Amino acid sequence: MNISGFNISNHLSSNRIINIRIKDDAIDKLSEKFSRFDLTAIEYKPFTRFTIAKYLDDLSNNQLSKFLNEILHDRNSGCFVIGPENLNSKIDDIFLVKLSTAIAYLIGNPNHDAMAGKYYARFHVKHEDKSDSYLRKAYTNMDLHTDGTYVKEITDWLLMSKLEEKNVEGGETAMLHLDDWEYCEELYNDPIGKQNFVWGSPKSKNVDYKVEHPIFFPDNEGKPQISYIDQFPEPKNMEQGIFLQKLSDSLEGSKNKVITKLPVGSAIVANNYFWLHGRRPFKENKDLSRELMRIRGSFFI
Ligand SMILES: [Fe+2]
Repeated sequence: MNISGFNISNHLSSNRIINIRIKDDAIDKLSEKFSRFDLTAIEYKPFTRFTIAKYLDDLSNNQLSKFLNEILHDRNSGCFVIGPENLNSKIDDIFLVKLSTAIAYLIGNPNHDAMAGKYYARFHVKHEDKSDSYLRKAYTNMDLHTDGTYVKEITDWLLMSKLEEKNVEGGETAMLHLDDWEYCEELYNDPIGKQNFVWGSPKSKNVDYKVEHPIFFPDNEGKPQISYIDQFPEPKNMEQGIFLQKLSDSLEGSKNKVITKLPVGSAIVANNYFWLHGRRPFKENKDLSRELMRIRGSFFI
């Protein structure tokens, strides 16, 4: 694939993941165009997000939006990493929030992020943490999961962007495609995985209801899809509890996880139905700091 302004290749960590690098002159043009709006305008006026998304697509003669959507809908791929080819002083956190926003608005409408109270969330992972979920716990493995398991909104895709990082060793992104998972057939064919499970969430998520849905469900072609996270299902009985343990063990035990280091300034975007994501523990360091941004949403098409 050849799109002007972008270098496109298969990602070094996996042939399923497409690596998209934005060339320097394209970054310069974007930075100039993005400066038309400050972050307040972007946050308060949803139409401005479409405007900056169009700036990004215009750079590619409107080929980028088509390409990104094709990747996310392609069962054999479904994931891309996108970011500046080189970092420079124009690429600060504000620029990266706008860039991530522009990418998201070429794919679909973001969901309201209840944790942050807007369409995206920024958060830090640091040495110390007093929160009630694994999101900010640096020294614990964040197990493979999908997003949106405990909310009513449709969560077709997710975008995770790395805004900044200091004194970090470890903390790599772990990804697993369902078709690479050794135990997929066995667990997908277990009737318990298609039962309704109850999903709640801790206080910090600001979601005051519970939802019910199965873990596995088929796509239009009968291929397995998953909606699962380890912390939030509330098993109703022994059979559901044991199933969840088996699922968790066989996901974490997979030898086919893709372990990758996301560069600062880059975002990883994945189809949330057949890719699971997680994070390896960081190496202990009291000055450790990483800032991330996330957007989740539904597809336009
Ligand atoms: Fe997640």
